Amino acid sequence: MSSLALPDNPLIDRYGRRISYLRISVTDRCDFRCVYCMSEDMAFLPKKDILSFEEVEAIAGAFIARGTTKVRLTGGEPLVRRDIMDLVRSLGARIGHGLEELTITTNGSQLARHAEGLAVAGVRRINVSLDTLDPERFREITRRGRLEDVLTGIEAAQSAGLEIKINMVAMRGINDEEIEPMMAWAHGRHMGLTLIEGMPLGEVGLDRVDTYLPLRELHERLSRRYSFTKLDKRTGGPARYVHVAETGGTLGFITPMSHNFCESCNRVRLTATGQLFLCLGQDDQLSLRDAYRAGGLPALNAALDQAMLIKPKGHDFILDRTRPEPAVTRHMSVTGG
Ligand code: 5AD
Ligand code: SF4
Repeated sequence: MSSLALPDNPLIDRYGRRISYLRISVTDRCDFRCVYCMSEDMAFLPKKDILSFEEVEAIAGAFIARGTTKVRLTGGEPLVRRDIMDLVRSLGARIGHGLEELTITTNGSQLARHAEGLAVAGVRRINVSLDTLDPERFREITRRGRLEDVLTGIEAAQSAGLEIKINMVAMRGINDEEIEPMMAWAHGRHMGLTLIEGMPLGEVGLDRVDTYLPLRELHERLSRRYSFTKLDKRTGGPARYVHVAETGGTLGFITPMSHNFCESCNRVRLTATGQLFLCLGQDDQLSLRDAYRAGGLPALNAALDQAMLIKPKGHDFILDRTRPEPAVTRHMSVTGG
């Protein structure tokens, strides 16, 4: 099915937005503890509360039957979930049967082992989160990761033929002077680079007000040094892209703080425990796990109808020193990136 052909009962919310993109957090666990994402002593969900792969497949199947064409696996770190490649293979088998694209967002630590399997399963593009190319700083930001593992993983993914986009959370005073070197590095290796503004999700180990780097400002600064051509390319996500003449690569900006892109939102997020969050920055949610366990596919579809009625218009992230608490208390690793 092409994305233009509508299924019988497509998922369309109150604001007329068609939901065609499902992000699935397969685990809230991660082998890193990035300072902007997690606290040092994160409490993770009990394993018994986590959806089985059978349940994830049923839920993904219900979305695909109703017009979802793109599925992204996230976490936490999706590749640390046991037997994750079983799920990747079964979802991969749906490509060409309603599903157009299966992607994954990973920290890269386990990529060396899994790159080939991902490619064989039908994954074409992956996002790798990488905020610095300095090994020391990498350890500081991730609190425990090894840069070398990620770089080896990236090489393996490229050898397997996967297209890679690097996601970098831009933080003032932490990695802002690395943005240009990162761009040269990524573009020099035929990878895209997307910069992300830090979002106030959960209590973490970072002062978000101090480290907030408005990407609008950065875009302006960079566009004086580089020739940017605005690209129409949309990958189903909220990033805006430019082509950089000097490097021949693509640079993306995800600006949830300084530019609200909610009007074109096409996605929803399933947590590892089966909660469906309708917006990264709001609490509106319902349990697809409970619906499916109680009443199978019909109940699941009724829950999806309900979800379309409660998807909020947008988020309202603000950074305010007098109100230092996060906009939402759950971490990115719970809702899925
Ligand atoms: N703000 C912005 N990006 C975040 N990520 C994790 N937590 C946050 C946050 N609070 C990023 C990761 C990864 C993606 C899934 O989300 O670096 O690239
Ligand atoms: Fe793990 Fe990604 Fe969060 Fe870092 S940002 S702790 S790699 S989930």
